[in-house]
Amino acid sequence: MESNSAATSKTEHLDQKNAEADLGGGEKRIQAQHQKGKLTARERISVLLDEGSFEEIGRFVLHRSKDFGLDKEHYLGDGVVTGYGKINGRLVYIFAQDFTVFGGSLSETHAEKICKIMDLAMKNGAPVIGLNDSGGARIQEGVLSLAGYADIFYKNTLASGVVPQISAVMGPCAGGAVYSPAITDFIFMVENTSYMFVTGPNVVKTVTHEEVTSEELGGAMTHATKSGVTHFVSPNEVECLLSIKKLLGYIPQNCEDAAPRYPYLLGDESRPALTTIIPESTNQPYDMREVITEIVDTDSFFEAHQNFAENIVVGFARLAGRSIGIVANQPAVLAGVLDIHASQKAARFVRFCDSFNVPLLVLEDVPGFLPGTDQEWNAIITNGAKLLYAFCEATVPRITVITRKAYGGAYDVMNSKHIGADMNFAWPTAEIAVMGASGAAEIIFKREIAQAENPQEKLQEKIGEYTEKFANPYRAAHRGYIDEVIYPEQTREKLIRAFEMLENKVDVLPRKKHGNIPL
Ligand code: HXC
Repeated sequence: MESNSAATSKTEHLDQKNAEADLGGGEKRIQAQHQKGKLTARERISVLLDEGSFEEIGRFVLHRSKDFGLDKEHYLGDGVVTGYGKINGRLVYIFAQDFTVFGGSLSETHAEKICKIMDLAMKNGAPVIGLNDSGGARIQEGVLSLAGYADIFYKNTLASGVVPQISAVMGPCAGGAVYSPAITDFIFMVENTSYMFVTGPNVVKTVTHEEVTSEELGGAMTHATKSGVTHFVSPNEVECLLSIKKLLGYIPQNCEDAAPRYPYLLGDESRPALTTIIPESTNQPYDMREVITEIVDTDSFFEAHQNFAENIVVGFARLAGRSIGIVANQPAVLAGVLDIHASQKAARFVRFCDSFNVPLLVLEDVPGFLPGTDQEWNAIITNGAKLLYAFCEATVPRITVITRKAYGGAYDVMNSKHIGADMNFAWPTAEIAVMGASGAAEIIFKREIAQAENPQEKLQEKIGEYTEKFANPYRAAHRGYIDEVIYPEQTREKLIRAFEMLENKVDVLPRKKHGNIPL
């Protein structure tokens, strides 16, 4: 009898503690979150995970700080909800910071909770999803919170390439709260409610006298368009969480695993619409997304980094049910030229795909690298080399289709046969040359043109000669640099077969500690 009542009182105590933990920083603060259009940490988890699958770890953790009155203010869980659960039946580890508790700031114990689930994720081979909503290091804890951040950065780095790490920024994130996401593979932000900055507008004003709003300094669109820090932007939190779920559908659980494969019954894979996409004139733009949409499984293209460096398109798709990563020049923006941002964007994506066994498809129509002082002074050399390096080092199945231009160094860089691509196709419209015909003719026939009776006529004649020789894929195909010249409508079928043929590809890089990518 006695032991029964003791058990009951213990249960009541647990219920009370659970209720306390659910309250986080209190009802008022939760309401304030909702008024801003934000969900609470627990609400976010319940939107993201399969119903009933969440198991919490560390619900009763309390901070150990005694300074600045913190000894009198404790919240169960200490401002972060951590645990594991499932998304579409697949295991994930998750942490969600609770802005209602000390602004989601990171204490020593808060950091320990995050590190614990990162360790579990690495040992058990499943993605880590961080829902960040934090004012950074908990100021009252001083170096203890800085140490906590450093522990997280260290684990983020160790986990990089082992398990996918996904960060959603779901509130104002400052200081350390932005550096951890920056090390992870993908960052998601929400319009109007999420911000990322190393130092906020007030500090900026004090130090540089620059007046800037949070939105301008580090809002979702700023990072989507200007800095490229964020890869995905959503209009609200629910959409953001659904996008994370969608991304997971294309990627494996860890670096030893294969990406999920969906059932697909082969049928008529010819796509006649591809025949009419390339315009008559070689200088006329077209939208490479149309080519992508025709090639991949219906509605399967999931674009990353959509608003940044729009002259290159990257994203995931499915081809006959298999996940692939696509890197495609975009002739509709800046003629598809490669510049600093495009090279950085594509290089990062290539490395993600290679880390996690996602085969790569490159669609190429590139007039070269962007010339000019702006590019040179900001190191197009180093940045272009990143993309070159990333492709050279990638060991996943790699296929290129040249749809039109493949000029100059960009021909080499964009997954050419020479740097390890497995299959290289070209459409009959492909032009593979050191540069465009008119530039080439002006340089190599300069004297002849100058001495001609009618220089303009001579120039046109020489352009014609150069075009005849190089503005086609056959010279490269004679050498075997192009494996096959294919009709556009055959592209999907050829790619399905080629990726299937490459399914068990094994390629090993020379033994080394690690390479030294030109950062
Ligand atoms: C302790 C914090 C906090 C922090 C916010 N709070 N940030 N408590 N440590 N870092 C508390 C506030 O005191 C407040 O408590 C509550 O959280 C909500 O904050 P508000 O300022 O009212 O919210 P808001 O106006 O939305 O502004 C959010 C914010 C701002 C932009 C994040 O709070 C802010 O600038 N915080 C400081 C950011 C920062 O400098 N962090 C340290 C970075 S250094 P009450 O009780 O009043 O509601 C760092 C080191 C790592 O992270 C570096 C690694 C490289």
